[in-house]
Amino acid sequence: MKTTLLFFFLSSIAFAQQSLEESYERGKLLYDDFCVRCHLPNGLGEYGLVPPLASADFLEDIKATVHSIKYGIHGPIIVNGVEYNGSMSPMGLDDDEVADVTNFIVNSWGNTSDVMIDEQYVKKVSELKL
Ligand code: HEC
Repeated sequence: MKTTLLFFFLSSIAFAQQSLEESYERGKLLYDDFCVRCHLPNGLGEYGLVPPLASADFLEDIKATVHSIKYGIHGPIIVNGVEYNGSMSPMGLDDDEVADVTNFIVNSWGNTSDVMIDEQYVKKVSELKL
């Protein structure tokens, strides 16, 4: 009995791990298509013009991060102590794509996250007031 429970426990971890990896891979492709020209391959953006994603304190607020990708974001905002007063238009990604690209950026360039974002979460973000 115990062994069976342990088996299900371990396989559910393995499954979650696998789906995060798959989401990350899809997110990487989306990043290359939609984000890389501004935020650059190293995620550093351009100082004072395009905020960084690598080691960006903004990403600690996962709701605000998802919201900015889904609906766009208009300054002024402060990222790592630097003010950005620009504008990012929404790119028209579907909710599952917003989830994938978020999973990619919060787990790249040394960023790490404990939570996996899914389509349901992105849907909910539209109802949240920031
Ligand atoms: C046309 C250039 C451009 C593109 C393309 C772009 N961004 Fe942005 N992004 C910006 C700018 C400029 C800001 C800051 C806007 C402001 O000042 O409020 C920003 C802000 C952000 C922020 C919040 C601040 C931060 O750096 O943590 C996130 C997260 C983000 N972008 C992610 C993305 C993702 C993911 C994509 C691709 C799906 C993307 N961006 C595509 C220019 C761009």
